[in-house]
This record gives sequence, structure tokens and C-alpha cells, in this order.
Amino acid sequence: MIKIKIPATSANIGSGFDSLGIALTMYNEVMLEESDEISIESLDNVKIPTNENNLVYWSAKKLYEECGKKIPGLKIKQVNNIPIARGLGSSSACIVAGLLGANRFLGSPLSKNEIINLASKIEGHPDNTTPAITGGLVTSAIEGEKVYSVTVPVAKNIRFAVMVPPFELKTDLARSVLPQSYSKDDVVYNLSRAALMTASLFSGNLENLRVAVSDKIHQPYRAKFIHGFENIFRLSYELGSYGTYISGAGPSIISIVDENSSESFRKCALSRFKDKNEGDWKLLMLESDSVGATISIE
Ligand code: HSE
Repeated sequence: MIKIKIPATSANIGSGFDSLGIALTMYNEVMLEESDEISIESLDNVKIPTNENNLVYWSAKKLYEECGKKIPGLKIKQVNNIPIARGLGSSSACIVAGLLGANRFLGSPLSKNEIINLASKIEGHPDNTTPAITGGLVTSAIEGEKVYSVTVPVAKNIRFAVMVPPFELKTDLARSVLPQSYSKDDVVYNLSRAALMTASLFSGNLENLRVAVSDKIHQPYRAKFIHGFENIFRLSYELGSYGTYISGAGPSIISIVDENSSESFRKCALSRFKDKNEGDWKLLMLESDSVGATISIE
């Protein structure tokens, strides 16, 4: 049996819609073995599909097909630490696990770049799947069926305060409310900020982040799905966030903070959520993962 450990990811980082993403230090684990039948088990209490619709299995099957092979069956055991449908890359983690596992079983016919391409094709965009594979802060663009990406490390003083609400938001719904076209002003607004975001996170220039996270492409349209959105943004800036944004398609919200103030941010934010009756939000203080998905032998 092999074990694949895949990091959570936060896509968009505000302004980089469908192009920026970052790997975070929270991990799913997937144990995989070739078998004559399909056997899928969740090792925690998280409900997952246990048939062919399971995303790990389905993605593995895609890779077999890509290589002109029929998948025999798979034994899969999953530890699902990444909360599902919260904008933290849980589906990308499953896709990446299935692809890396299948590629290993077939003798590694696909290169890392080919796996990045296939993962993005399955997910529909590359901003979660690529950092899940490579770790770090990733800028990706799609040309034809190929992903062109650059991975850079994130400055060591940066922490990500990940605020996870007690409700889900499906990506399909969060994408369905976005306009079909944008004005030139809105496009320029986002382009400039996405570029600023990459350079600022890489260099550790935290002062730029408040401007760099803002966008006119997706967050204004998605805020209505996130109960408590305005309170949490206001509160996070009061507590010293450098930049706060909706993670991926939401509904989680991430504040970028300095390592020295991360503990006080965490404590104060949790007690203020309670005061404001914002419900049972969780707060995880994470770092950027610089390794990406790994395979080991169990
Ligand atoms: N870039 C994607 C979106 C990430 O915002 O819809 C969610 O999968």
C-alpha cells in the first residue's frame, strides 16, 4: 500500500482568480493499493462516496485511461482533514491523490507537468491542483490543454489565519453568479493586484497585501453566500490582518498575518466571533507548505 499526503490549498488569494494558489500546512492522507475490486473506506467520520463516483478513484481511472489501460480496481482509505466544500482544495487533494497513485502503479508514465495538466483538466482550473502538487505559491496560466506555472516560496514571516464557517458552499453555485464579461477598468484593477500579490508574498512585503487582495471579478458576487462576511472582514482588519480574502470560491475566509502577531490574532478573533454570535467558525493558523504532495510506502 502507498500513502499520499496532499496539502490543502487556497486559490485566487483575492485578486488572482483562477490563476493564483497557495499550498497550506493541513493535509489529507490517502492510502492506495491496486486490487481486483473497488473498496473505499473513510478512516475518520467524514462521509465520502464509496463507489466509482469517489473522486480519488475517478481521477485514478482517468489516468489509466489516458495511458490506454483499464483500471483493475482499487483499495482506498482516506483521512479527510481538509474540510469539504469550504474553499480549501478538498476536491483537488482527491484528484491529485488519484492521479499520483495511479501514475505510481503504472510505473510513472506521466511526468510531473503532465500530471499538473491532467489535474487541471479534471478540476477545470489550475489554481488549486498545481500548488497541491508542487507546494508553495503558484502562478498558473492555461494555454490549450497545458498549464504554464511558476512555483515560488512564501516569505517565512507570513501566517494564514484560516476561518472556516460551519456551512458549505459548492463551487458550481459560487461560479454561477459571476458575470460573463467585465469592464476594462475591472480587468485592469485585478491584473495589477494579482501581479502585486505574487511579488508581495514572495518578498514578504506585507504592507501591499490589503490592496493586493481586493478584486472586482469574484468576491463582490460571492459575499452574499457567506453569512457574517462583513463582520469578519471588519474584525480581521481591526485585529491587524494585512489582507483578508475569500479562500477559493469560499466560504472560508483567510487573513494574512505576521508570525509575531498570529497567536494574539487567533485568540482575539475566536473570542470576538463568540461575542458577535457568528456561529461555530473554526480558526486554523497555518503556514505555507513548500513541499506539495508526497508519496511514501505504508
Ligand atoms: N478559482 C476557483 C474559483 C477556485 O474561484 O471558482 C475554486 O475551485
